[in-house]
Amino acid sequence: MNYKRTLITTALPYANGPVHIGHLAGVYVPADIYARFKRLKGEEVLLIGGSDEHGVPITIKAKKEGVTPQDIVDRYHNIIKESFRELGISFDIYSRTTSQIHTETATEFFKTLYDKGEFVEKTSMQLYDEEANQFLADRYVTGTCPHCGAEGAYGDQCEKCGTSLNATDLINPRSAITGNVPVLRETKHWYLPLDKWQGFLSDWILNGHKEWRPNVYGQCKSWLEMGLQPRAVSRDLDWGVPLPIEGTEGKVMYVWFDAPIGYISNTRELLPDSWEKWWKDPETRMIHFIGKDNIVFHCIVFPAMLKAEGSYNLPDNVPANEFMNLEDNKISTSKNWAVWLHEYLRELPGKQDALRYVLTANAPETKDNNFTWKDFQTHNNSELVAILGNFVNRAIVLDAKFFNSVVPATGELTDTETGLWKEIAALKDSLTDKLENFHFRDALKDAMDMARAGNRYLQETEPWKIAKTDMVRTATVLNTALQLCAVLSIAFEPFMPFMSAKLQKALVLKDATWDMLGATDLLPAGEKINDPGLLFEKVEDSVVEAQIRKLKEAQKKNVIDAWKAPAQKEETAFEDFEKLDIRIGKVLECAKVKKADKLLSFKIDDGMGGRTIVSGIAKYYKPEELVGKTVCFIANFPPRKLKGIESRGMLLSAENPDGSLTLITPEGPLKPGSCVC
Ligand code: 2FM
Ligand code: ZN
Repeated sequence: MNYKRTLITTALPYANGPVHIGHLAGVYVPADIYARFKRLKGEEVLLIGGSDEHGVPITIKAKKEGVTPQDIVDRYHNIIKESFRELGISFDIYSRTTSQIHTETATEFFKTLYDKGEFVEKTSMQLYDEEANQFLADRYVTGTCPHCGAEGAYGDQCEKCGTSLNATDLINPRSAITGNVPVLRETKHWYLPLDKWQGFLSDWILNGHKEWRPNVYGQCKSWLEMGLQPRAVSRDLDWGVPLPIEGTEGKVMYVWFDAPIGYISNTRELLPDSWEKWWKDPETRMIHFIGKDNIVFHCIVFPAMLKAEGSYNLPDNVPANEFMNLEDNKISTSKNWAVWLHEYLRELPGKQDALRYVLTANAPETKDNNFTWKDFQTHNNSELVAILGNFVNRAIVLDAKFFNSVVPATGELTDTETGLWKEIAALKDSLTDKLENFHFRDALKDAMDMARAGNRYLQETEPWKIAKTDMVRTATVLNTALQLCAVLSIAFEPFMPFMSAKLQKALVLKDATWDMLGATDLLPAGEKINDPGLLFEKVEDSVVEAQIRKLKEAQKKNVIDAWKAPAQKEETAFEDFEKLDIRIGKVLECAKVKKADKLLSFKIDDGMGGRTIVSGIAKYYKPEELVGKTVCFIANFPPRKLKGIESRGMLLSAENPDGSLTLITPEGPLKPGSCVC
């Protein structure tokens, strides 16, 4: 169907932490590419974003920090908003779900459905913490997953197997507030009867949207085949949009009910007088950019809400991405296993486009993908610097050298130029088609192929050589190369807007549009151009190493944080302990044992004439740092030969969370030979 305008929404990130590269690759970079592309085509577009500021994770974080939920969302909303701006995500509005207009919009929406009788009221038994005096919605309760048996599953989802859960499904539930075993208590809630929309949704998606990405279509199909169930849209909580029903104090809308309405509120905040045409005019199409964990809410729940309301459009497409992993592990906010956008912007200043490029080149469009710092460096150095940057730089430097930075007039075109422009035209068609169909990763390849064609062209024509004999031909070649630079500045604009703006400024190319892409005469002959400097800088090994080191530190900390004391051994009699002769010793000498990586040999003053002990701790110490230390050893083990050395006893050490060993080195005025008891 023909459409007049496109409303692009981006999943509202929870304002309980900053955004990371997983969010960017999954949602915000592709949405921005699409919005910029459409604007360049002269189409009417809105790019809507905002923070999701309700939900239990926010209240839990606030409790932990001893601040209010509003403090938490204020903090992260500002960090997120600012970092998106710096990355060039061109939102028409980035607002939040704690705004007044959102409360009003969500309230009206809920009330309409309530008044139309679109909800089902149900009283049920829910988990309740008697000490905290509250119901335990969603993440307020943890327990064992009934599907995969994982410990620590939440009341709304098991993160291990991804299954959505009801809090009452959990085995051995515990309150996340007090750690108590919850009791069951009766409470009333309102449900959206998704089963009522089963027939409509099946037809609309399975027959009407076969063009949706296979991952999206497949997930919807499996939900529909399982049979849709009513979903509670209210919660017993004090953080959220209050229910507009009398006698429901202490109840709010479920965060997944009010969050997608945030798209409407934000459009309304931006365009108080004309927002409705963006939501209700059939000539507007709506595209939701989301990650795969949000598919059911955007393809099934929100459409059912919109349908139940009755006056809204449904989404035209939901190009959900899979997940981006980081250095082969799942990105995790709680484990700090992430590249945080605000930190990236601080630590690699001026490299916004490089990040946008690499996340698109590796976009998890069809399957989970992996971000590694090594790969980031390779894409940057061998593509941005060596192909695109190199071509533009050569064209501009050669033009400065031979034509004093003026665009030379072209002479007669040869087959080489005709061939080049034919290739560019074909790449433009392919690029356009791929962008229209949300294949951003392949689209980026087409754009880079244009730059590759430019390098090949210069290699073939060798203007630096022909300038010695034929300035007319040199002028034609450099005119062509500069025109191609202008074309590249347009082709890459959706992907790398900073580079593009810089290049267009240098080339004095104004008001570029997508239609101009492929034209051979964007720069008039005789125009003075400027040197943009290097468009991209190399990423040095030291930068990559520092980032990898930072991740390893985070990993180490995770191991330490997750460490639990091993279970206590069986009871034993004091007499058994007494049989062990544990003594204090002083290290007189310490040396590596030849041909044994793990062993150190110690000469110990044991107060009884001295002895040698061989110990397997060479990986954790340098021998010299142990000389003079006071240690504990078991004196009455039978002697043992290790690599030809007779060892008489065993040094005591303790195991650390990462498996390394630390020698027990007691302090105080201890005499060698004293008994440990
Ligand atoms: O998964 C999330 O991060 C949610 N905050 C996304 C909400 S999208 C929309 F519905 F607002
Ligand atoms: Zn599970």
